[in-house]
Amino acid sequence: GMIERLDYLVALGIDAVWLSPHFPSPNWDWGYDISDYCAAAPEYGGLPAFRAFLDAAHARGLHVILDLVLNHTSDQHAWFLESRSSRDNPKADWYVWADTPPNNWQSCFDGEAWTYAPERDQYYYHYFMKQQPDLNWRNPAVREAMWDAARFWLDMGVDGFRLDAIGTIFEDPDLTPHTVPLTLAGLRRLSETAATPAERALVDRYWRDMFVHQLGGPGLHDLMKELRAVLDEYPGDRMLVGEDEDVAYLGNGRDELHLVFNFPLMRTPPPGAITPAHVRANQAARLALLDALPAAGWPCNTLGNHDCSRVATAFAPDPDHAAAAARVNAALVLTLRGTPFLYNGEEIGMTDHLIADPAHLRDTMATWYYDALVNDLQVDPAEAALRAAAMTRDKNRTPMQWSAAANAGFSPAGVTTWLPVNPNYAAGINVADQEDDPESMLNYYRRLLRVRRASPALQTGAYRPLKPRARDYLAFLRAAAEQMVLVVLNYAPARQQVRLDRRSLDAALRTPGRASQLGGRILFSSHAGGDDATGDTGLADLQLTRIDLAPYEVLIAELG
Ligand code: NOJ
Repeated sequence: GMIERLDYLVALGIDAVWLSPHFPSPNWDWGYDISDYCAAAPEYGGLPAFRAFLDAAHARGLHVILDLVLNHTSDQHAWFLESRSSRDNPKADWYVWADTPPNNWQSCFDGEAWTYAPERDQYYYHYFMKQQPDLNWRNPAVREAMWDAARFWLDMGVDGFRLDAIGTIFEDPDLTPHTVPLTLAGLRRLSETAATPAERALVDRYWRDMFVHQLGGPGLHDLMKELRAVLDEYPGDRMLVGEDEDVAYLGNGRDELHLVFNFPLMRTPPPGAITPAHVRANQAARLALLDALPAAGWPCNTLGNHDCSRVATAFAPDPDHAAAAARVNAALVLTLRGTPFLYNGEEIGMTDHLIADPAHLRDTMATWYYDALVNDLQVDPAEAALRAAAMTRDKNRTPMQWSAAANAGFSPAGVTTWLPVNPNYAAGINVADQEDDPESMLNYYRRLLRVRRASPALQTGAYRPLKPRARDYLAFLRAAAEQMVLVVLNYAPARQQVRLDRRSLDAALRTPGRASQLGGRILFSSHAGGDDATGDTGLADLQLTRIDLAPYEVLIAELG
């Protein structure tokens, strides 16, 4: 099925695919519990199918990035089975063992971070669930084994890795206990009930304090350098992106990772809408951090992934305008400076699908929380079910919606899919229905991606904010030597009149007197008709001194 859909991805206009873990796994954590790093899961067709997929992707000019989980393996991995079997086997020290739980550390998924193994009469440490024991990265043999696994895929031609949860690899060597007077379930519960700003601040502090000694321990940068050196043994453009927001993982800009995600962009203040002020503050802070690196780091923006609510749900406090806001947000990610990551299905406007019955959850973190709420915290089961539905990641992992056929065309009729299909597939949120509709979300993304591909300024240009106080719209330039592009995003359900005065344009262009010589040619408007087939964009020239925007309009113009 994946090979069959590659042409869809090419037509969408993307450059690379990041696969979530495709390795053999007992699937306690959606594949993030890997039981063999040098194989592909049999249910996905095993290695022959993976090789065919990789070749077919490369034949179409698509890069393939794999998900590399370094912090932990599955408890069914041969390394762990051996390590657990006795205290003196050759892999006895490949995981983190203790005779008794040395502290009160928590697993961020299921309570106690130390789990007893009768085989050794000892406890092993796991930052995630107990089926995900942490590797002991201080052991050089572990490093070698994992780098060999990375080489296995790089030899095959894989283009890079997304590195899972790198912040969790090393802990505080002194094993300092945390100071929060709550269990994990208690803290989650408090997060839900905190009402006042003071309570919310306390919750934030508790979350930080509960895990502070388990994250970011010494040694991480050396480890990233080692992995980068492995990658650099290979020809071609290979890439590492870390699941972290800390630009320190880019090292000097050349010797650690290529990218980390701009997660702060996703952390909007309540009620969760992206606002121009939030984006401006985010860009100012982010770009300053990246530019301060010796070899200036490259940004990487995203608004969605498999761990959080889908873009169309997360950033839409007003359901009447959810689809319109999702379009503006798509344009945001595709016009900001940096590499954009899209999460599958956002390009057709897929939304979260809440799973009301806790018995149908697949996300172990949510089932654990449901049980803790009901059994330990005596929360009413109906309310606990609501909480579990809201916190599960199943809601944003439902199958891709290919058509209006049964199972959204993802699996044949009569098959029970791993997670239920979101019923809105039958209401136009599917690829087949949107394929030929020029106004569809899918064709909107395709158009945006085409404009981005054809624009040197959108690909590499500097970000220069305009109109720093505009409440309802975001305006900025993307400035490259070859091209200057203006982007204006109307985040409001009302018309806007944007007046760009020559002085501030000159300042953004960094050339006095330049603005008066410039006109604008519209490259993209979410509100202009046009005919893709004839190449007639239906777009007129733009008066820079007075731009009229329709509600939620997205406008991209070339200045010249
Ligand atoms: C981060 C992944 O994105 C998430 O899905 C997973 O549960 C944890 N790391 C543990 O691997």
